[in-house]
Amino acid sequence: MKIAWCITGAGHFLKESFEAFRSIKKGVRPGPSNLKPQPSTLKITIFISNAGVEVLRMYGIFDKLKEISNGEYMEEIFTEKEQGSSSPKAGRFSLRKYDAVVVSPATSNTVAKIAYGIADSLVTNVVSLASKACIPVYVVPTDGFPGKVESEMPYSIDREKCKGCDDCEPRDRCKEEAIYGAPIPQIDLLRCNGCGLCLELCPYGAINGGVVEIKAREIDIRNVGLLRKMEGITVLEHPTHFFLFYKKGNLC
Ligand SMILES: Cc1cc2nc3c(=O)[nH]c(=O)nc-3n(C[C@H](O)[C@H](O)[C@H](O)COP(=O)(O)O)c2cc1C
Repeated sequence: MKIAWCITGAGHFLKESFEAFRSIKKGVRPGPSNLKPQPSTLKITIFISNAGVEVLRMYGIFDKLKEISNGEYMEEIFTEKEQGSSSPKAGRFSLRKYDAVVVSPATSNTVAKIAYGIADSLVTNVVSLASKACIPVYVVPTDGFPGKVESEMPYSIDREKCKGCDDCEPRDRCKEEAIYGAPIPQIDLLRCNGCGLCLELCPYGAINGGVVEIKAREIDIRNVGLLRKMEGITVLEHPTHFFLFYKKGNLC
């Protein structure tokens, strides 16, 4: 079985998506599942949006993707930056090389584009060409349902707990030089690789991720509603649901 896993720039459901695909790759069912994982025949190609690359790094997951896709044929990791504006590797969908596409997590931005037929990025091109080739597409939106969700944030500095030490170990020992400024430093998340060393080094516990509550906007819920009505697209509530709801077979 060959799966195209598309990652967009969302923190919500990111770790859950990673854990689900890593489990299935290791031959472990990631929750209730109809799929019998057969790691030897399962190939996962990863397609990542520009924002996806940044957010994956912030959460310390980017380098771990190799555990799922080792770089061999049909197990590559393609980034939007490398794929330019026309996303040539999305041509694989026209050649029907995949059994399914999973967009997990899917940002409101990417959901809106798919809902309105826009294909101007790597992930939206993958979805567009997969749909034209009748390959089923599964989307896990971050903002698909009314009400609030809890979402884990990347690292930040708690300005109330920070003592503004002259010798700030987290700042001085960050290999990415992502922590800057004095007396109360800040984190440049575009440099941060989410390694978590700073968290361990601060004796005052002033660095943390934390969880925030996010409410879905009405427009995002409406766009997810549009996706539900699109031919060949299945909207899922959680990354593990792909393994439960996947149905074998081309759609036309
Ligand atoms: C740490 C972080 C977490 C984010 N999480 C989400 C999210 O959960 N859902 C969402 O819709 N956008 C989220 N965003 C915003 C998207 O990255 C942004 O809208 C981006 O333009 C999406 O581009 P893409 O859809 O091409 O990946 C997040 C941004 C950052 C920096």
